[in-house]
Amino acid sequence: MDSNATPLDRLRRPRRGRVLLAGALGVLGAITALTVSVPADAAESTLGAAAAQSGRYFGTAISAGKLGDSQYTTIAAREFNMVTAENEMKIDATEPNQNQFNFTNGDRVYNWAVQNGKRVRGHTLAWHQQQPGWMQSLSGSALRQAMINHINGVMAHYKGKIYAWDVVNEAFDDGNGGRRDSNLQRTGNDWIEVAFRTARAADPAAKLCYNDYNIDNWTWAKTQGVYNMVKDFKARGVPIDCVGLQSHFNSGSPYNSNYRTTISSFAALGVDVQITELDIQGASPTTYANVVNDCLAVPRCNGITVWGVRDQDSWRSGDTPLLFSGGNKKPAYDAVLNALNAAGPNTSPSPTPPVSPSPTPPVSPSPTPPVSPSPGTSPEPGGCSATISTVNSWPGGFQSEVTVKAGNSSVNGWTVSWTWPGGQTISSLWNGTQSGSGSNMVVRNAPYNGSIAAGATTTFGFTANGSAATPSLTCTRA
Ligand code: XIL
Repeated sequence: MDSNATPLDRLRRPRRGRVLLAGALGVLGAITALTVSVPADAAESTLGAAAAQSGRYFGTAISAGKLGDSQYTTIAAREFNMVTAENEMKIDATEPNQNQFNFTNGDRVYNWAVQNGKRVRGHTLAWHQQQPGWMQSLSGSALRQAMINHINGVMAHYKGKIYAWDVVNEAFDDGNGGRRDSNLQRTGNDWIEVAFRTARAADPAAKLCYNDYNIDNWTWAKTQGVYNMVKDFKARGVPIDCVGLQSHFNSGSPYNSNYRTTISSFAALGVDVQITELDIQGASPTTYANVVNDCLAVPRCNGITVWGVRDQDSWRSGDTPLLFSGGNKKPAYDAVLNALNAAGPNTSPSPTPPVSPSPTPPVSPSPTPPVSPSPGTSPEPGGCSATISTVNSWPGGFQSEVTVKAGNSSVNGWTVSWTWPGGQTISSLWNGTQSGSGSNMVVRNAPYNGSIAAGATTTFGFTANGSAATPSLTCTRA
């Protein structure tokens, strides 16, 4: 989905107008006309068009409740070419009751954006905040399954329509570089990679981002913690395409000149970098220009989103951190526009196209439809059964899901085993503990999903090298 053309065309009209005017003054001759047309090529007059000169976007958070405010929509429609729903695609908004999805307000933001020629970032699928009450009270395998189900439900609704999803938001602790404690984290350290694998299978066209705050300063432990996770994901083939730097700058978390190092270091891991929620306490024009210039300096920094249109729209309105005050452009606006224009079309080697071929291990453009589950084992009275299905496959690899079902009494610990028919090897496994060797696979329950009520199910999944296969499985209870 590429909607650059519309705003670009609209924004170029004034330039053609200036050239035509020069031409109309033809008595002055071609040289004058040429002279007048040159500065017209040098500057764009809105943030989105100025950013588009180097293939980047400039976006804003949009709130559905403000779409009736014409000052707000006039500025937003004119200036930005990317939109993030400020709250409307979060978990509490999209799945207020378990398994009852609601896209009313998410769609209002989405439709406004697309009708105005803008692309949309999705925010956010897995987060410890803004969880609906039912999710807050879940834990263990029930929460893990609910997270997977939520990702699948929301991404299916917006499939093929979202430029990039913030798959996981704010999973790292402030201060020590480790994971933040949360109900999601307590389901097992692999929850983040499970979220990303689920997301890739659900919408292979969307870029998949990890998004966080206080990962802007390269020397901070939290930045290094996220950096190491992304490095590990890339090394192990966990599908991740981008890192979102929220970049909420204030006196406690100020902009630092090593920001450019942070951006280029993440980019060097083979991911895009997006500045996703920019606001700067006091809106210093110099700091805004520095942020823009740091992004422009790194080819894989592909866009900037500010977290709101006017100061009054900001979640931190007392900080007056944005680019507009009422209907007026602030000095920070001019600084940003000038920085984008100074870069012009030649700043960077061609940035990635809107939906880039993923640098992560290949995922087929259209995932193969799930193969019908193999017969598996028939549930023995008091025992368990297991079935396997192929979720996705690509040349040289595939992703499978195994459903483990308890028989007519509950199970407290299970083991699933099978023999690979063609030398397949597992590259990553989640919601289970892998053992066995060579062709003989043995997977036991993870610490959190060993207990299955009578007749109920749990699942584990994996990615593997080789040709997709659905061997018959043996399930035994502990
Ligand atoms: C904020 C919104 O701006 C507020 O309206 C809401 O009350 C709370 O969330 N990090 C994020 C954003 O990822 O989703 C948060 O947005 C700001 C911090």
